[in-house]
Amino acid sequence: MSATTQTENEAKELGFSVRQGVDWSNYVLYRPIYQNSFFTHIFDYHSQKPGVSWSIAHDIGAGHGIASSTIASRFDHVVVSDPNDGYTQIARNLLVEQSGISESKFTFLQQGAEKSSVESASIDLITACECMQWTDTEAAVGEFARQLRPGGTLVMTYYTRPLIVGNERAQDIWKAIFEAYSKNATGDLLDRAFRILNNGFDAIALPEASWKTVKRVYINASQGIASFKINDRVGENRVGKNEERVWVNGDPDWSDNQDIDWLKKYFATWVPVLPENEIRGLWDELECILGGEKVRLETPIAMVFATKRA
Ligand SMILES: C[S@@+](CC[C@H](N)C(=O)[O-])C[C@H]1O[C@@H](n2cnc3c(N)ncnc32)[C@H](O)[C@@H]1O
Repeated sequence: MSATTQTENEAKELGFSVRQGVDWSNYVLYRPIYQNSFFTHIFDYHSQKPGVSWSIAHDIGAGHGIASSTIASRFDHVVVSDPNDGYTQIARNLLVEQSGISESKFTFLQQGAEKSSVESASIDLITACECMQWTDTEAAVGEFARQLRPGGTLVMTYYTRPLIVGNERAQDIWKAIFEAYSKNATGDLLDRAFRILNNGFDAIALPEASWKTVKRVYINASQGIASFKINDRVGENRVGKNEERVWVNGDPDWSDNQDIDWLKKYFATWVPVLPENEIRGLWDELECILGGEKVRLETPIAMVFATKRA
């Protein structure tokens, strides 16, 4: 495959667009970085396949290319796709200009998860990190099945906002801040996103006709599936009866200590952005409770693995 950029102008509104307030420089600094354990989960699942192949991976909804970078260290070629205007250019800048990885290693495509120009049965691994909530999941999962080779791996991941642990009053205000965010986040696109993310991707179906060995891993979900819930727009549970569910508690890679300034900057990475001055009272209250100290944060993350049937 050649390293080209394909533009497909879509009339419909896309999630996580600049218009909704996305600021990638803030995102890079304040969203969690995918640590080694995240990729170990992915590569371990993939490597257990008989006759496993490491030729072509496809990082979907790649954004600025953060996951593509590590995936490129294990695969011969990586397709980096994202539907929003200019995002694959930002990814190219990170991967090729800044990281110095050869451009021939990548194909950049401005395309969404639901419809791709990638050849059928050509991909060994698909990663869809932090983007499935912005998709029509049924169409996207069908499209992933088309692209993957028999035995290929699908990985869909989603980390939600961190929970403040060990300081109940601070967690109560943090929760109220996300309730205010939710009230401001309205419309069909957001409603669909919440239905997908509020139950840690349990709303995403993996039909048995196309998928096997489905494994759903929930990390730092100390309150169970409720750990992912930030409002009442919760989708139907579509976990299949033969799927494995694994709970991993206390993962230090998804824990941190942070102060009020960091929490404000982190919150500004959630779109649509709710300006600080609109919830000044809540921020002042949280600042007062923290008293200049850092709080312990634990981020719940769901990782869903599936293997394409022959
Ligand atoms: C929160 S960013 C995630 C970026 C990166 N994958 C990561 O893990 O940090 C969500 C991405 O989903 C993309 N997106 C929006 N609608 C999409 C769709 N229908 N299909 C695939 N990606 C989509 C956005 O353009 C954005 O880059």
